[in-house]
Amino acid sequence: MDPNVRPETMNRITNRELADAFIEEKVSELRAQIGGGKVLLALSGGVDSSVVAALLIRAVGDRLTCIHVNHGLMRKGESEQVIDVFKRQLGANLIFIDATDRFLDKLEGVSEPEQKRKIIGAEFIDVFAEEARKLEGVSFLGQGTIYPDILESKGVKAHHNVGGLPEDIAARFELVEPVRLLFKDEVRQVGLALGLPSSMVFRQPFPGPGLGVRCLGAITRDRLAALREADAIVREEFANAGMEGKVWQYFAIVPDFRSTGVENGKRRFDWPVILRAVNTVDAMTATVPELDWALLKKITDRILTEVKGVCRVLYDLSPKPIATIEWE
Ligand code: XMP
Repeated sequence: MDPNVRPETMNRITNRELADAFIEEKVSELRAQIGGGKVLLALSGGVDSSVVAALLIRAVGDRLTCIHVNHGLMRKGESEQVIDVFKRQLGANLIFIDATDRFLDKLEGVSEPEQKRKIIGAEFIDVFAEEARKLEGVSFLGQGTIYPDILESKGVKAHHNVGGLPEDIAARFELVEPVRLLFKDEVRQVGLALGLPSSMVFRQPFPGPGLGVRCLGAITRDRLAALREADAIVREEFANAGMEGKVWQYFAIVPDFRSTGVENGKRRFDWPVILRAVNTVDAMTATVPELDWALLKKITDRILTEVKGVCRVLYDLSPKPIATIEWE
């Protein structure tokens, strides 16, 4: 049997009962694979790594060590949620590393999008490998690989994962990939059954390089801060309007050019914020939803009054193709 092919006999996990059955079976498989060993996991807070963490906590408890790296490009409140859910609520062994300065220093002055992605991916691996080297007696590495990752291992843009670990580290570990044959909707069912909060389980997709590909061109701390605030407002207002889960992905972008504004008779020269919202099935093609005008206006008003250094808000109407979902 090819381990990379989902058996035809495997049930699609569509409800709580099937998710519970999957968890029970997986937990005993994990215990059999890991025995008395220890496992390491890079926990980004995304759905896949979060579900793997929750499964491993259930299977091996404190023999799992999670490492959460804040690369400084997370959305507002994201690292805090990871710490709250996994450390406080689930009692996980969690190492939190705030590597913000390290990432932002490396990215300083770099404007080419693929170069930015490569730096973020490589730095992430360096930070993770440094921590991994400090741990003793860990011989398993958990990964949130899911079935579409296996099916589409080649993408248009460089995607980053812990896959590219340096040889000395990679050779030490046996991989543990408990959701590798599941589709995204099934991973979500399993996450809910494991008791993860629905805001985590139904989190919209977020690229590995995070806000780094939405703070266009060379990242600066002021624009990054404006982007993080604007993005939080977009998410909050979508939730207030009952649109959470009704639009596939929605976010803000801050470009690296300014435009003229006026306030109290004085001219200002500030950043625009671009709003992006798309619906898609597989992210290969995407359409732009006709958002309610009141929602667009509310988001615009809030960004213009609450976010420092922004004087204009735009809504991107471009479908994919020709435009990609992300701007970089
Ligand atoms: P594009 O921009 O290619 O995006 O239309 C398609 C989907 O993939 C996400 N995306 C990424 N995810 N690392 C990721 O993990 C990346 O480098 C990356 N680039 C794009 C994007 O958010 C969208 O959902």
